[in-house]
Amino acid sequence: MTGVIGVLTGGGDCPGLNAAIRAVVRSGIAKKYRVIGILNGWQGLIGNDTLPLTDHSVSGIISLGGTILGTSRTDPMKNPEDIDTIKHTLDKLGIEGLVVIGGDGTLRAAHEVSNRGVPLVGIPKTIDNDVFGTDVTIGFDTAVFIVTEAIDRLHTTAESHHRIMVLEVMGRRSGRIALAAGMAGGADLILVPDVRVSMEEICQSLHARYRAGKKFSIVVVAEGTRHEDIAGTTVPECDRDECGHEKFVGIGNFLGKELEHRLGIETRVTVLGHVQRGGSPTAQDRILATHLGIAAVKQIQAGNFGCMVGLQGNQIVSVPLEKVVIQYRSIDPEEYARAKMVAGIHD
Ligand code: F6P
Repeated sequence: MTGVIGVLTGGGDCPGLNAAIRAVVRSGIAKKYRVIGILNGWQGLIGNDTLPLTDHSVSGIISLGGTILGTSRTDPMKNPEDIDTIKHTLDKLGIEGLVVIGGDGTLRAAHEVSNRGVPLVGIPKTIDNDVFGTDVTIGFDTAVFIVTEAIDRLHTTAESHHRIMVLEVMGRRSGRIALAAGMAGGADLILVPDVRVSMEEICQSLHARYRAGKKFSIVVVAEGTRHEDIAGTTVPECDRDECGHEKFVGIGNFLGKELEHRLGIETRVTVLGHVQRGGSPTAQDRILATHLGIAAVKQIQAGNFGCMVGLQGNQIVSVPLEKVVIQYRSIDPEEYARAKMVAGIHD
């Protein structure tokens, strides 16, 4: 045995986490490490809640959604004394390298924890695909697949009833799921937090579609799209979760009501919610998670800490966490323009 590796999953879950854990464990064992799972994100290090992981414990998990380790949104930087507890737990377990699988919040915390002397490597996961330094995060492909299927299903019922169908999808700051799935599902309008569109423009676009003889429309809206951006109105501050993230106030339902009122066309709203985060990962997510899990162990073995492994082009790369956390990955405006060009609206 060369040493001990720890692995944790933090923040919102997503399909593909188990595939990443499996890859960390199997490649760790292949390199003669012992691997310890930390339960429920950073909370497991604060509360000393861990699970030894063997080849057997990760058998059969590659196709499972969620995370066998559990997760939480515990912020290790909230209480200054927690950092000492985390270090103490790691020392006690003999962990010489920690793999932190997380989205923007968890990786931000990982950066801070790493700056305080904890040897760690990050793996990017979030269905939102908004982590800087990687072209794609674990979970995104599965979420896009689920949303695309939902759009396909909404199409047939929208057409039968000559309705507008509004589909609200996840995407806190970024509309990447809305954009990718909207393109794949042939949505007529895609509304994202990254691009400001007024309610007048939305109505004009849908009018143009009806003038062209189309009798139904599919509108995909990312949950983080602001009321004030599309309606010019301000809404009350929304509640926040324990990490300070906004809990959204229902842009889909707001939009549905407005469209029905302004256009006089029967409108229905679907809020897809956590269905987008559950269930089995796609083959692409399993493959990405496997490559990133192996790469993280490789970084630990090389003693290269304070970094995140990611995919750029067709290369697995290592990016310093300080570069990952200072930037936010918005949608590509050209991709948005291309999606618009092929949508069923030409005004
Ligand atoms: O960050 C990923 C994400 O799926 C967001 O798109 C969504 O707003 C959020 O998590 C919801 O998380 P939860 O309900 O688990 O707090």
